[in-house]
Amino acid sequence: MTIRALHVASELYPFLKTGGLADVAGALPAALVERGADVRVLLPGFPAVAAGLHDVRPVAQLGRRFDAPGVTLEQGTLPSNGLIVYMIRAATLYDRPGNPYLNDELVPYGDNAQRFALLGWVAAQLAQQLDPAWSPQIVHAHDWHAGLAAYLKAAERQQGRAPARSVFTVHNLAYQGVFPAQQFGQLGLPDDFFSMQGVEFYGQLSFLKAGLYYSDRITTVSPTYAREIQTLAQGGGLDGLLRSRAHDLSGILNGVDYTVWSPANDALLEHRYTATRLAGKLACKEALQKRFGLAQKSDALLFGLVSRLTEQKGLDLLLETVPEIVKRGGQLVVFGTGDPALENDLKRVAQTHPESVAVELGFDEKLAHTIIAGSNVVAVPSRFEPCGLTQLYALAYGSRCRSCIAWADSRTPWWMHRLKISPRISPPGSSSMISRRAA
Ligand code: ADP
Ligand code: GLC
Repeated sequence: MTIRALHVASELYPFLKTGGLADVAGALPAALVERGADVRVLLPGFPAVAAGLHDVRPVAQLGRRFDAPGVTLEQGTLPSNGLIVYMIRAATLYDRPGNPYLNDELVPYGDNAQRFALLGWVAAQLAQQLDPAWSPQIVHAHDWHAGLAAYLKAAERQQGRAPARSVFTVHNLAYQGVFPAQQFGQLGLPDDFFSMQGVEFYGQLSFLKAGLYYSDRITTVSPTYAREIQTLAQGGGLDGLLRSRAHDLSGILNGVDYTVWSPANDALLEHRYTATRLAGKLACKEALQKRFGLAQKSDALLFGLVSRLTEQKGLDLLLETVPEIVKRGGQLVVFGTGDPALENDLKRVAQTHPESVAVELGFDEKLAHTIIAGSNVVAVPSRFEPCGLTQLYALAYGSRCRSCIAWADSRTPWWMHRLKISPRISPPGSSSMISRRAA
């Protein structure tokens, strides 16, 4: 029997991408189709999605939802492989160019709770025959944006049977979709869902917790991360819940889409190569040095870094090593976008060593491929990495990969700063290990 599964995500390569989530959302459904599953995808109708889909046609009129008028569900196909993609049209919520989560000042949109509640709600409707032609048996949601499997649970309670089984995949527990408790009232969920046995998280509302709590199965993107997120240091305040669900939690290592990421047939590279015909790799390195104005030295060890510039990615650790890299005759190319303070620090270092260090800010798929192919070493100084597709790409491109997972257990876990809570000494495993500090 063919399994019918609906993947629910907020970004998908090649339409819209801020990181590896988009790569997985673009590659996994197609890989499952190849193995005989009947898979479709549900996305918010961001401008890049609406512009990229082919053969778009309406599926259902949904009226006013989450304060957005005239919401409709449409379906189209992914031009590269014909995959069927459902898209939610809600102009007031989604018709915003650029980053899908943040405004121009890099601040999360004030209505993100509604924007992504609509995504979870439509997924649950699709499981209840919203599209008469197709309905999923499995709703597979990715990260907090798709976390409201709670709508499926609410439907199950109403109907006495589950409309579909649910899988929730954690790509990164650091992004939790936490909102003020007052916003719960706008979600249309049963009142008792706002409790510790539900979507409540330290007095707030958490979409990530909703996904972890209400889904039938939880997966994450590597076996190691599946273990790490059950610890206090890496559990983002959800380690207790994850430990209690350990039997439903599996770590499955991400795969690579070799039709996109392979130096032998990479359409974005000027020069191609294989493990046995490496001339192209040298040409990629020379082109990279030229592109970034670095000294044209074929024997200089060239480090490349392509990354979101966030605390997770350990750029500060890399900055500490720059003098040593330069002293030893190495070169460094950094390309990314994110935290303005990190961007400035990186720019400063590049100005100090113009022959050896180049930094460019931005997001560009071609340049990302160019750097991964042209580097001798791809640097991944991440503090933690749930999977890290960049390392896998580096391996495929014969670019040695250096990671430095520099998490110090003795320090206060990152998520405690975020939630303004401090650790205090309690028996291990007790949920009272976390105490709230007045904001
Ligand atoms: P994460 O998902 O945490 O960002 P991964 O290593 O799993 O980390 O995936 C990152 C993906 O985003 C890779 O496809 C990488 O090439 C891409 N990427 C990161 N920064 C940029 C950028 N500035 N321009 C283009 N692609 C980028
Ligand atoms: C996340 C993680 C990254 C992972 C990617 C795809 O953004 O930070 O490690 O590879 O998702 O699953």
